[in-house]
Amino acid sequence: MVKIDNIELPDFPLLLAPMEDVTDPPFRAVCKDNGADLLYTEFISCAGLIRDAIKMRRKLDIFDYEQPIGIQLFGGDEESIAIASRIVETTNPDLLDINYGCPVKKVAGKGAGAGVLKDLDLMVRLTDSCVKATRLPVTVKTRLGWDEDSKNIEEVAERLQDVGIKALTIHGRTRSQMYKGEADWTLIGKIKNNPRIHIPIFGNGDIDSPQKALEYKNRYGVDGIMIGRATIGYPWIFREIKHYLQTGEMPPAPTVEERVAVCRKHLRKSLEWKGPVTGIFEMRQQYSKYLKGIPNMKEYRNRLVVLTEPEEIEAVLDEILVTCQGFEMEYAPIELINYHENCPL
Ligand SMILES: Cc1cc2nc3c(=O)[nH]c(=O)nc-3n(C[C@H](O)[C@H](O)[C@H](O)COP(=O)(O)O)c2cc1C
Repeated sequence: MVKIDNIELPDFPLLLAPMEDVTDPPFRAVCKDNGADLLYTEFISCAGLIRDAIKMRRKLDIFDYEQPIGIQLFGGDEESIAIASRIVETTNPDLLDINYGCPVKKVAGKGAGAGVLKDLDLMVRLTDSCVKATRLPVTVKTRLGWDEDSKNIEEVAERLQDVGIKALTIHGRTRSQMYKGEADWTLIGKIKNNPRIHIPIFGNGDIDSPQKALEYKNRYGVDGIMIGRATIGYPWIFREIKHYLQTGEMPPAPTVEERVAVCRKHLRKSLEWKGPVTGIFEMRQQYSKYLKGIPNMKEYRNRLVVLTEPEEIEAVLDEILVTCQGFEMEYAPIELINYHENCPL
């Protein structure tokens, strides 16, 4: 078992990475169903939360069935992180996570997210302020450092543990790398093996298959892994990794029935949480991913993305079940999208 303060997680937990515009409640629900052990919200700006708590309130929506769940904050000054932590606390998440990893200019350029990696004293003061302001366990997610010449994650880990964080997730890239190149887990493994470090260390970056999850588990000895891009359109990765770690074998690829069931669940949760118009509209980008590999996928997708009534969409999903009955799905490699500076995130 892995413990983050008093939160008990199974051995080698699989964490759903916080992702802006992705890890909203509907998506979290399908990841939870498929084996994610710890969920995170999208990141929330401390300043935004304080300025307009009512508008930002939606981002704080969490539900009992999601437990354990962490709410992630980012922000550049000690006072606002303390106030925002107290606002977050009122919504009763299991933990509060601070983002010191976001590389995009609108965040890192203003000294928040990965920007804080350039000023370790500030990072320590911010974290200390957050830890003192809340009774929730505070965790941190960050990168290896600002750039190739300033990888300070070893010092970061020790100093943040000293001010009281309860777990650390490390994305094996620097800020300058954005999403380029391959994530380097060597330093992550080194931190895990530092005898001074006793908090759980979670590795993050480029996990896209059960085989890689096992390989990195063995090679770097981390307490668990956090998975981001590979979950988008493929929430089954969680259960596949679990199955593979337990048995050394791949489970059967997700069936047509399972793919349709995930579409339905995501759709229903979207309708509940976003309302009929946005719920249906935003669901449109999901169909081609969830239904990838089924016969005549393009045709079904083209029909689904123009429908405006939930019943019509459900009817097409019913039709897929009938026409694809008995079809055997095959595995296709997961493609990780590279996000760059000009991408919203
Ligand atoms: C669309 C998108 C949005 C993201 N938003 C956040 C965020 O809000 N907070 C955060 O800490 N990281 C964010 N990240 C980074 C991921 O949490 C993760 O660290 C990164 O994608 C590397 O993991 P992966 O290779 O498994 O995707 C985002 C990544 C993507 C692709």
